[in-house]
Formats: sequence, structure tokens, C-alpha cells
Amino acid sequence: MLRPATPDDPLRLGVLVSGAGSNLQVLLDTFNGGGREARVVAVAATRPGVRALERAAAAGVPHEAFPLADDRDVRLADWLDGHGVELVVCAGWMGILTAPFLERHVAINLHPALLPAFPGAHAVRDALDHGVRVTGVTVHVVDGGVDSGPILLQAAVPVHYDDDAETLSARLHQLEHRLLPQAISLLAADRVELSGRRARVVDGEDS
Ligand code: GRF
Repeated sequence: MLRPATPDDPLRLGVLVSGAGSNLQVLLDTFNGGGREARVVAVAATRPGVRALERAAAAGVPHEAFPLADDRDVRLADWLDGHGVELVVCAGWMGILTAPFLERHVAINLHPALLPAFPGAHAVRDALDHGVRVTGVTVHVVDGGVDSGPILLQAAVPVHYDDDAETLSARLHQLEHRLLPQAISLLAADRVELSGRRARVVDGEDS
């Protein structure tokens, strides 16, 4: 899917955020200490003042807010190009990336449910309301739909009877913090093959 990267020439990540940025923090901690096959080089947010932008600033990573506007995706794509971004990572990005953006950038998204169950912005609430006993986390390729692109990795957690949105979100976040860096490492090592909708991890559990 992408060029094989090395610690000397890491895959350049642009991370898109909207809120707290705990997943961004994990990516900064995992990849920006050096010696890794990927590196966060730019962080963009849907609005100014969010905690995630503070995290980017603290890590010395270029960051910018792109509030919703007709030309947002074009300006965002230009800005990411300007930072040499090779892979866009949506980590809590509350927006739809449109075709003009996706023609220029490969993007992956992190979603707090086992897609195709519970797409959209209220996945944790929807899973609780539905009464599922198991939910989880999906990392998928962004294809212009709402959480609809080819699935790269998934992992599950139990839903307990006394869970509320807060306790279940906390369990899901722990899993996200493991799964997202794992997906990026696999992509940076060029170990993910996509055939239509189906992803295969090369030299891994799928081989
Ligand atoms: C995550 O749960 C992600 O799945 C969802 O938004 C949340 C972002 O959390 N799309 P954080 O800002 O990384 O803490």
C-alpha cells in the first residue's frame, strides 16, 4: 500500500484530530523518539484550542486548526503536502474526507466499534443501547463514506452489564492505544496487502 520505510527514512504521518488526542499522544510517544519506521510530522485539528493541538505543540510538531469551510479539504491536503505527509491518520477526526482529498492522500481511520456495526459519531453509545456483549476497535482505510472503507485490523473487548459510555470508552481507548500504532507499524513496513476490501498482513498471522 505504501513504500517500505526505515528508521533512517521513516514514513511521514499527518495526524487528524478533534479533541483530547490520547491516541495522538500514543503515536508521538511511540514514533517520535527516533529509531522507528514512522514519525508524526504534522497534526491538524477540526477546531482551535483542543487538547490534541497542545500535545502536538509540546512535542514540537507543526500543527494547525482547519475549521469546516467549503475549501477545507483542499487547504488541508495542501498543508499536509507541504509537510511531506505520506500517510494520513484520522485519530478522532470529526469530519468526512472528500474525494478531492482522498485522490491526493492515503488515509486510515480509527473507529471505536467492530465495523460494519455501529458506524458514525456515536458508536460507543449505539453499542450499549443495542445491548451487544462484545464490541471493539477497527482501523480501516478511508474511502469517502462514513466508516465504510476496507478493514485493516480489528480487536474486541467485552461489554459488561454495568458499563456506561465512560467505562466502555475507557476500555476501548486502551485497545485503540495498542491497535493504532500496530497498524501504522505494519503499513510502514509495507506488510499490508489490499485486495479489494480484504487486507492481508504479510509475514504475520495471515500468512
Ligand atoms: C477515539 O475513540 C476514536 O476511536 C474516535 O475518537 C476518539 C478519539 O480519542 N474516533 P482521543 O482524542 O484520541 O483521546
